[in-house]
Amino acid sequence: SWTPENMVTEAIDAIRAKVGDRRVLCALSGGVDSAVAAALVQQAIGPQLTCVFVDHGLLRQGEAEQVRDDFVRITGVDLVVADETERFLTALKGVSDPEEKRKIIGREFIRTFEATARDLAGDRGIDFLVQGTLYPDVVESGGGEGAANIKSHHNVGGLPDDLQFTLIEPLRHMFKDEVRAVGLQLGLPEEMVWRHPFPGPGLAIRIVGEVTADRLDTLRRADAIARHELTAARLDREIWQFPVVLLADVRSVGVQGDGRTYGHPIVLRPVTSDDAMTADWARLPYEVLEKISNRITNEVPEINRVTVDITSKPPGTIEWE
Ligand code: XMP
Repeated sequence: SWTPENMVTEAIDAIRAKVGDRRVLCALSGGVDSAVAAALVQQAIGPQLTCVFVDHGLLRQGEAEQVRDDFVRITGVDLVVADETERFLTALKGVSDPEEKRKIIGREFIRTFEATARDLAGDRGIDFLVQGTLYPDVVESGGGEGAANIKSHHNVGGLPDDLQFTLIEPLRHMFKDEVRAVGLQLGLPEEMVWRHPFPGPGLAIRIVGEVTADRLDTLRRADAIARHELTAARLDREIWQFPVVLLADVRSVGVQGDGRTYGHPIVLRPVTSDDAMTADWARLPYEVLEKISNRITNEVPEINRVTVDITSKPPGTIEWE
């Protein structure tokens, strides 16, 4: 019968049989799938695994720390962190076009990952790369070994010839709910296991306009408040995703105390969905919206107006860029 314990045991046996005494690499993104896949491989072959976390500086408040500190403490994995915030910010300087942002981030990510992987491989080499491919991805791409390398922005694709790996996909028979159950079974915290989907290019595509350190900082503080209040209202699992978007090139007039302010508007974009292909705007309770609005305008001085996006997908997309 299916239980998380059985799933873990089976996955561990399969990983051991495949890997033997060879070395394995895994890229952590902060997402559920890569975290659970890495935790499983760690249980199976421990010291033969090295994880790489490319910190592009575009994650939300506390997320990089969750990977660097909490995940490492819980699983005991050997983690190499490539702290590349400056590199990504420099590459993004002056860029406002959404697709251009994506291209730059994808390119810099691959370059950083390659360089780190090469260093780690050294003379001994690394044979395997862990991917958090789920069963629905396998079906979508027509099955077949390694067929999951489909969405280049989700996975590490297009590596050069001297960095070819055999894929290990310990989640390839699992659905999302099974992945979560396995994650909990392995001791990962609820907030990691129930994390909402988050785009690879991160907050860069939630700042409409150029990405700068200051704007990231502003957005991070507002986003943290919105997420906190959603969790406090116990609504995380009703909501598919809750992007918070900074309209960085727009200014709006406000008033606070005796003074006129000239700040930025922020957009709350909570949506419900089953698969992100279509989505509906979430009818968050007014009290929750009120709390978020009051807190953001009180606690984030750069923001003087909070708006809610009530567009479904289609015609809107979930993200603003
Ligand atoms: P949209 O905005 O197109 O998003 O409705 C659909 C889903 O995809 C996510 N998304 C991305 N994920 N890289 C990613 O890894 C991207 O460039 C990207 N753009 C959108 C979005 O968060 C939603 O879950």
